Amino acid sequence: MITVKTLRELRAAVNRARGEGKRIAFVPTMGNLHAGHVSLVETAGQRAEFVVASIFVNPLQFGANEDLDSYPRTLLDDQEKLHEAGCHLLFAPTVEEMYPDGMALQTQVQVSGVSEGLCGASRPGHFSGVATVVTKLFNMVQPDLAIFGEKDFQQLAVIRKLARDLNLPVQILGAPTVRAEDGLALSSRNGYLSAAERDIAPRLQATLQEMGEALRAGEQDFARLIKNAKARLTRSGFKVDYLEIRHAESLKPANPGDQELIILAAAYLGKPRLLDNLPVNL
Ligand code: PAF
Repeated sequence: MITVKTLRELRAAVNRARGEGKRIAFVPTMGNLHAGHVSLVETAGQRAEFVVASIFVNPLQFGANEDLDSYPRTLLDDQEKLHEAGCHLLFAPTVEEMYPDGMALQTQVQVSGVSEGLCGASRPGHFSGVATVVTKLFNMVQPDLAIFGEKDFQQLAVIRKLARDLNLPVQILGAPTVRAEDGLALSSRNGYLSAAERDIAPRLQATLQEMGEALRAGEQDFARLIKNAKARLTRSGFKVDYLEIRHAESLKPANPGDQELIILAAAYLGKPRLLDNLPVNL
């Protein structure tokens, strides 16, 4: 695997691979890679002959009071994991390479509808930061397909809509959430959990599973289901940001009778805000 830091080097390496008739698969990340990212890279390798990953902690998608400065940066370790997972090219640009004119004047991409509510409500500007950097990365790498984890379910919906609305010639693929044995969804932010919090953290997925079982058993009173689940999470020590039952495709609030549902949750446990979800097909 080679690592490049400039757009010029990236373009040269991708053009070489394309000249050899290879399909290009792309896995954008912010680094501090775990088994979830590794599985995205492995999936990329099954779908294309040339796998590109990026590591860029994108300032544009962090709010003023968020963890941009403390976000873990572990490039050497990440390079090793990417190499082992079969990545061919890593693009690890600087902020100046990505935003040469500064961020204040950067043209931004606003994805309407699916960006609103949920994480979009709690993190104003976050999804336009994500959509902007992903659009730029797509234009830089020009991949045939790009792979994103389903753990960030709303992000995946935003990127799918971005690609559709702007006719970006890239296929977007979602890949299943990778979990620890006790059910906790892997996330770079799990590293912020204390040992005691780490023991409690799997309660988030367990609570979503309980809600899923109730829905499958015929529960139609979504408001009551959500209220009770929030109370259980709060008793366990979480500060629930949101817990909602949505339509899995549109992410619009679900109604009794809808069959393709997604339960979406964000909850603070100590410092980190944990995200998780559970698809429920009735
Ligand atoms: O999911 C992430 O790690 C980031 O939001 C992404 C898609 C790499 C954009 O910075």
